[in-house]
Amino acid sequence: MASLGINLDHVATVRQARRTVEPDPVQLAVLAELGGADSITVHLREDRRHIQDRDVELLRHTLRSRLNLEMAATEEMVTTALRVRPHQVTLVPERREEVTTEGGLDVVRQLPVLRQVVERLQGEGIPVSLFVDAEADQLQACRTSGARWVELHTGAYANTTNPAAELARLQAGTRLACALGLRVNAGHGLTYRNVEPVAAIPAMEELNIGHTIVARALAVGLTTAVREMKALIRHPRHNLPANED
Ligand code: PXP
Repeated sequence: MASLGINLDHVATVRQARRTVEPDPVQLAVLAELGGADSITVHLREDRRHIQDRDVELLRHTLRSRLNLEMAATEEMVTTALRVRPHQVTLVPERREEVTTEGGLDVVRQLPVLRQVVERLQGEGIPVSLFVDAEADQLQACRTSGARWVELHTGAYANTTNPAAELARLQAGTRLACALGLRVNAGHGLTYRNVEPVAAIPAMEELNIGHTIVARALAVGLTTAVREMKALIRHPRHNLPANED
């Protein structure tokens, strides 16, 4: 059975919208773990648009589960990973102007650089996963890079009008990756509606899911949050914390 990695980037997106201290992905990671998260993923982007360095440092010390650090294969990020020592690094392509990670890594074209980064991180005991489309030439190149893991990009499956064809590509990609000796995760765009067939792929080890879970958390939590504010407004003295009375 596939395990579940929770991507908390969008918790940080809400915080950064006000440059304030809430919601705090470090605190909410505890709740995600209580809900059954097997790992926590954060993407430290070059422009720091959501996750901050402080989040990564604190998560590394507070998580009971595993920290999967998503990052670009740059010198700055490699230095950060070697300092923080997450349980896993997932290398992703990154463009400043994109809204989210758009495609998989072009491992075929970037093999010399990626091979070096994989060697540096894995040489220090940090397993590396490469985020790629489920294409044979990319998977072969992943194998050549020395990375132990791949994360198959499920965005095309999530967005297509022909999910059966895309699912077949993910299934074939998983089989090929396993035959090459790679371990397989998957993620991007998975939702409560489309996750089940991907979770059922034999040998699929972990699904990394973010946006749909944060969206669902707002939906199931909003009524309670409003009720609590309403109670404070109606009975202010009664509800004030003792030290502010
Ligand atoms: N996996 C990778 C490599 C990603 O870049 C992302 C998005 O940050 C995810 C998984 C999670 O995608 P989503 O937020 O669409 O669930």
